[in-house]
Amino acid sequence: MAAAQMFDLAGEVALVTGASSGLGVRFAECLAENGAAVALVARRADRLAAVKARIEGCGGRAVAIAADVCDRAAMQRAFDAVEQAFGTATILVNNAGVAHSGRAVELAEEEWRRVLSTNLDAVFYWAQEAARRMLAAETGGAIVNIASVLGLGVSKGVVAYATAKAGVIQLTKALALELAFKGVRVNAIAPGWVITEITRDFLSGERGAAMKRDIPMGRFGEERDLDGPLLLLVSDAGRYITGATIVADGGQVVALKG
Ligand SMILES: NC(=O)c1ccc[n+]([C@@H]2O[C@H](COP(=O)([O-])OP(=O)(O)OC[C@H]3O[C@@H](n4cnc5c(N)ncnc54)[C@H](OP(=O)(O)O)[C@@H]3O)[C@@H](O)[C@H]2O)c1
Repeated sequence: MAAAQMFDLAGEVALVTGASSGLGVRFAECLAENGAAVALVARRADRLAAVKARIEGCGGRAVAIAADVCDRAAMQRAFDAVEQAFGTATILVNNAGVAHSGRAVELAEEEWRRVLSTNLDAVFYWAQEAARRMLAAETGGAIVNIASVLGLGVSKGVVAYATAKAGVIQLTKALALELAFKGVRVNAIAPGWVITEITRDFLSGERGAAMKRDIPMGRFGEERDLDGPLLLLVSDAGRYITGATIVADGGQVVALKG
């Protein structure tokens, strides 16, 4: 089979959470460029409308659905809206996420809950709902959870984030095991640092320069660096891959410092 055919997503319906900025925008564009109809989910409706317009301007198909990933009723409405627009979602990219910084001993309970609810609880509930619907429709499908190198190694000041992302990696394996026989594959991508809204402050200044020096490839990631891993995991090219976490980090994880 030719490579282009192997990665072709024509006929697939993809739902991308956190599609209003950063990596999620690129994930949605990449999926649309390769033939999938795409549902864009996040809280900021104006941003989603702009992403939808851009995708449609390039000949793609998209629907924008404003929803908070922590709101279970909104989640049901989002999946219903996708089905109405395009049919059962056969690809879920569980990408919405928030960050925090601050030492563990000072971390407020609300901050711990905010990060864990968005970065771990919601990842489970959206994957669970997507899988339920894929099983009911007998479509099979692919779920990709966005973890982080901080799910594999840790640095100071990110206890809630790192804990949630480590959970995402285990969750991915557990779901993969239960769903493999039903034709639903579940994988994760663990990106290194990519400059987006979530990381702009964190990666700036002298700290950013020092962090960049620790990356074996000598640069931060770009959104497009994740196109390949994403396409592999959602397409026929990755048909025998499940439970895996693809690390895309310029070699950073082998050099993480505490
Ligand atoms: N950038 C990096 O270096 C990096 C590295 C490793 C992993 N990651 C992971 O990659 C993912 C995307 O991050 P990013 O860098 O693209 O950050 P970003 O630019 O801040 O984007 C985060 C996205 O998540 C959405 N979101 C946050 N909370 C939400 C909620 N409660 N309900 C719905 N949507 C919500 C935001 O949309 P709204 O605000 O409009 O709701 C936004 O679209 C995250 O899971 C992050 O942990 C990023």
